[in-house]
Amino acid sequence: MSRPLHEKSSVDTIRARFDADVERFSKLETGQVAALDGRLMLEQITETARVCCSGAQRVLDLGCGAGNYSLMLQQQFMRPLDFDLVDLSQPMLERAQQRLQDASSGTVNLHQADLREVDLPEDSFDIIVAAAVLHHLREDAQWEAAYAQLFRWLKPGGWLFVSDLVEHTDPLVGALQWQQYGAYLESLDGPAYREKVLSYIDEEDSPRPLLYQLGLMQKQGFTSLDILHKHTCFAAFAGARPASRAR
Ligand SMILES: C[S@@+](CC[C@H](N)C(=O)[O-])C[C@H]1O[C@@H](n2cnc3c(N)ncnc32)[C@H](O)[C@@H]1O
Repeated sequence: MSRPLHEKSSVDTIRARFDADVERFSKLETGQVAALDGRLMLEQITETARVCCSGAQRVLDLGCGAGNYSLMLQQQFMRPLDFDLVDLSQPMLERAQQRLQDASSGTVNLHQADLREVDLPEDSFDIIVAAAVLHHLREDAQWEAAYAQLFRWLKPGGWLFVSDLVEHTDPLVGALQWQQYGAYLESLDGPAYREKVLSYIDEEDSPRPLLYQLGLMQKQGFTSLDILHKHTCFAAFAGARPASRAR
C-alpha cells in the first residue's frame, strides 16, 4: 500500500469499474471470493444482526453492491425488512433491488450517491451495514465524518456492522498480513492473479486499521463494540448507538 492518497483512483474511475463488475458481486453462496473469508463475514454479520436487532425493520446498506448483505439479512430475519440501498453504481443498485424484490415484499429505496454526500434521514435505521466500502474513504477528516454520520443515521439502540479490508497499526505486522493475504490470492489463481488484486488495491483502496476505526466509533459514542472476525487484512466488527439519546 505505497501509493499516496492523492494518487488513488477518483470516484468516477471507481464507479466505472463497479458498473462493469456486477456479476462478481452477485454470488451469495461464496460472497466476494477475493476477500478472504468473504462468506464467513457475511454470515457473522447477518447472524449477529438477527440476534442483536431482533425487532429491526429498517436497514441501510451502504455500498450495497449487488445486495449480498441485504439479501442474507432478509433471509436471516424471515419477515420483510425495509431497505435503503446506497451505491455509486446504478447497475449495482438495480441488481440489488431486483434480487431483494424477488426475495421479499419489503420496501426498497435506491440512492445512487457517494456515501460521503448522500442525504439520508437521521435517527432512522435499526441496522446499518457497510461492507467492503469504507476502504474508499481517504483522509482522516473523511473517516471521522463518515463514522459521525453513521452514528446519526442510526436510531437510538440501532447497530452498525462493518466488514472490510483493513490496514494494520504496525508496518511490520501489516507487511506480514499483506504477505499472507497475497499467499491466499495466489492459492486461488496463481501469481498473476495475486499481483492483479494487490495492484488494484494499491490503486483504488485506502483501508485503515481496525483499531483506528474502533477508536472513531468509541469517540462518536458507539457502545457494545465487538470484533466479529479478523483474518489477515479483513475484519468484521460492530457497535451500537446507545438506546438513550444522550451522546
Ligand atoms: C467491493 S463492493 C462491495 C459490495 C457489497 N457491499 C458486498 O459486500 O457484496 C463495493 C461497492 O461499494 C461501492 N462504492 C465504492 N465507493 C463508494 C462510495 N464512495 N460511496 C458509495 N458506494 C461506493 C461500489 O460501487 C461497489 O458496489
